[in-house]
Amino acid sequence: MTKTIFITGASSGLGKATAKLFQSKGWNVIATMRSPQHQQELSALANVTLLPLDVNDPKQITECVTKAAGLGKIDVVFNNAGHGLFGPLESYDDEQIAGLINTNLLGVIRVTKAFIPHFRQQGGGLFITTSSMGGMTAFPFSSMYHATKWGIEGFSESMYFELSKFNIGIKNILPGGIRTDYVGRSMAHGIHEVEAYQPSIDKVNSIMSHLLLPENLTPAEDIAEVVFEAVTDGKDQLRYIAGEDGKALYKTRTEMGGEVFRKHFDQVFFS
Ligand SMILES: NC(=O)c1ccc[n+]([C@@H]2O[C@H](COP(=O)([O-])OP(=O)(O)OC[C@H]3O[C@@H](n4cnc5c(N)ncnc54)[C@H](OP(=O)(O)O)[C@@H]3O)[C@@H](O)[C@H]2O)c1
Repeated sequence: MTKTIFITGASSGLGKATAKLFQSKGWNVIATMRSPQHQQELSALANVTLLPLDVNDPKQITECVTKAAGLGKIDVVFNNAGHGLFGPLESYDDEQIAGLINTNLLGVIRVTKAFIPHFRQQGGGLFITTSSMGGMTAFPFSSMYHATKWGIEGFSESMYFELSKFNIGIKNILPGGIRTDYVGRSMAHGIHEVEAYQPSIDKVNSIMSHLLLPENLTPAEDIAEVVFEAVTDGKDQLRYIAGEDGKALYKTRTEMGGEVFRKHFDQVFFS
């Protein structure tokens, strides 16, 4: 029987690449996004259903999950919607802090919670979430982003224990840098300028601008392949590190241990 994947944040980047990959592999795709009326590429594809979903809106999550479940059995839920926030904590206002937690963490938690009864009832299912290498490492001036992605890691590891008893899987994809328009369209900056941090920010920016060069980033299509692998490999594995940069960073941190790695990273950025 044809399988179905439900995706959040499918309007662009990794979500869209994943929707296209699964569609090309013969899956039904329920591609959700905030503004489906603007999405022409996916709406032209066979077996792709577009539904409106802002993961910040609990009422819309309930409506969307009910509608999606009414279309037939859903095998996989891919929690992918997310955005970034750069700057010192002092530069963020409360709305920015709450907004990031709402989308990146509560969005994942609420969508997962809404699907669990359906998965239990049908005897199984799989949750996949786009975490980040930023869910196991931390860069300067990204405290709230890391709070959400590390939050996803703890949430998922704990959920594994309660879901696995119902044949429900949970897996995270941890990409390094992805070649999407994330920085251009999904990266906000703290709204208050705090001059005292500027010398440190300048140092970080000079390193990040190199790390974020397109040639140093992994194409979204390659990360989508990792999502497909995680969905289809039948392995009991929680984390999939994706992209060469992500793998290298993970290896360095694991080999050094967290304490030494933190001091090493401080040297990298600020020496
Ligand atoms: N790019 C990277 O280097 C990188 C690295 C590691 C992890 N990630 C993670 O990968 C995921 C996808 O990012 P991307 O690189 O593909 O960037 P992207 O192209 O900017 O995609 C972000 C997606 O999230 C959606 N979104 C944002 N807020 C939403 C909300 N409240 N409700 C529903 N959808 C919402 C956006 O929808 P709109 O079109 O409505 O804005 C867009 O579809 C994110 O979780 C991100 O944290 C990215």
